Amino acid sequence: MNILVIGAGYVGTTTGLVFAELGHKVTGLDIDSRKIDSLNKGELYFYEPGLEDLLINHLEKRNITFSTNVEKGIHENDVIFICVGTPSNEDGSANLSYIEQVARDIGHYMNGYKVIVDKSTVPIGTSEKVAQWIIKNRLENHPFDVVSNPEFLREGNALHDALYPDRVVIGSSSERATSILKELYKSMTCPVIVITPRSAEMIKYAANSFLAMKISFINELARLCDKLNINIQNISHGIGLDKRIGPNFLQAGVGYGGSCFPKDVDALLDTGFKYDTNLSILEKVVKVNKTQYLYFLERARQTLGSLKQKRIALFGLSFKPQTDDLRESPALYIINELLAENAVIKVHDPIAKLPLDIQMQGVVQYTSPEETAKQVDAILIGTDWPQYKELDWKEIKTNMRTPYVFDGRNMLDANKLKEFGLIYQGIGYK
Ligand code: UDX
Ligand code: UDX
Repeated sequence: MNILVIGAGYVGTTTGLVFAELGHKVTGLDIDSRKIDSLNKGELYFYEPGLEDLLINHLEKRNITFSTNVEKGIHENDVIFICVGTPSNEDGSANLSYIEQVARDIGHYMNGYKVIVDKSTVPIGTSEKVAQWIIKNRLENHPFDVVSNPEFLREGNALHDALYPDRVVIGSSSERATSILKELYKSMTCPVIVITPRSAEMIKYAANSFLAMKISFINELARLCDKLNINIQNISHGIGLDKRIGPNFLQAGVGYGGSCFPKDVDALLDTGFKYDTNLSILEKVVKVNKTQYLYFLERARQTLGSLKQKRIALFGLSFKPQTDDLRESPALYIINELLAENAVIKVHDPIAKLPLDIQMQGVVQYTSPEETAKQVDAILIGTDWPQYKELDWKEIKTNMRTPYVFDGRNMLDANKLKEFGLIYQGIGYK
């Protein structure tokens, strides 16, 4: 099948490459010509394991190409995936202006039957709006269907998640569109569910909100575990073995970040507000998350005293490992808080780069964790990059001013560190 993917961001590029891998001919479209040039050269402009090899392979085989030509893209493809961003407005609602622009373009340039598939995360009812925007801008009476087909891929695992999903959700009210989507996904062995577009849109928000809720639940419980001298890791393990609960997304830490959870929970809350339904559990989920990194710093303060002029090494900048994405990263919130307190900050991340505005405030990024840790009063873990586990902590300790490690991701082997004379403190975990 010939597929057009509009929006060659993180979601769109992965989606396009996965369809190329499944044997389809794909065109990736974006308004940003630098991204398009880079992708056409086989250079992935963001970090995602395995994706660049796939890009080079499918460019060579001519299974995928990237372009900024909207008219040509819409003319030559009958299946159009929308993967443009849906950032948050000031009030937490989702900004649909990019989706609207794409729908207008489709209406304007369509030259026959098109299936428009919305993969971007959008508020419930957006499929209907997309259809209206297309109709308003249609020059001729060409038929079309709008389908909601949310993605559930995690950054850092995108390829695996997209090739081997737990389920495919097709939100469609048209048999014609449903059979096209089923054909697209026919090689997938997971359950494929067909429901209304509204239900599909709700599933995406509900899934992300539920996962965010699990994280805030365990984070809040970790605060109590600190007081009761109980190890939260054992609690996560113990409850996670119950199949009804499951072991995932119970890792306590400095809170969730990224381009999805914070934005999507806010958007669902906003939908509740618009429909006069108070989603009070989600309000608390947000509240716990927004205060979790502050709780982490407060615990450090209780041990170190004031952080003013304290030399702090922060390990990890990205919102999670295996990505260079800094969107809503708890590590950046930690840096801002430390800056406000006049701490001296050194940072390390295997791939993410410290934003310029933070560099300008005197924060220095080093290329090795060992160098970052030299002569510091404490090390803070901001991201659970697995390589931090493998460091020579004995050696690191010898170069620190005082041997404190505050593990904001509960990722290190506390007993091993203590053997080396380090003073370790996790979250709900000593
Ligand atoms: C984003 C959202 O975060 C996610 O919730 C949604 O499901 C899909 O879009 P991501 O791919 O990470 O995911 O966003 P981003 O990297 O910002 O990519 C969006 C791309 O769309 C950008 O490359 C942007 O240039 C492009 N775009 C935007 C267009 O091509 N046309 C437009 O009109 C607007
Ligand atoms: C998420 C969803 O998992 C994915 O299905 C959706 O399509 C997009 O949003 P992503 O944001 O890439 O994916 O990362 P995810 O692995 O879900 O982690 C989100 C945040 O939660 C990270 O900051 C991570 O560190 C944090 N997290 C995750 C925890 O703090 N504890 C956990 O147990 C799991």
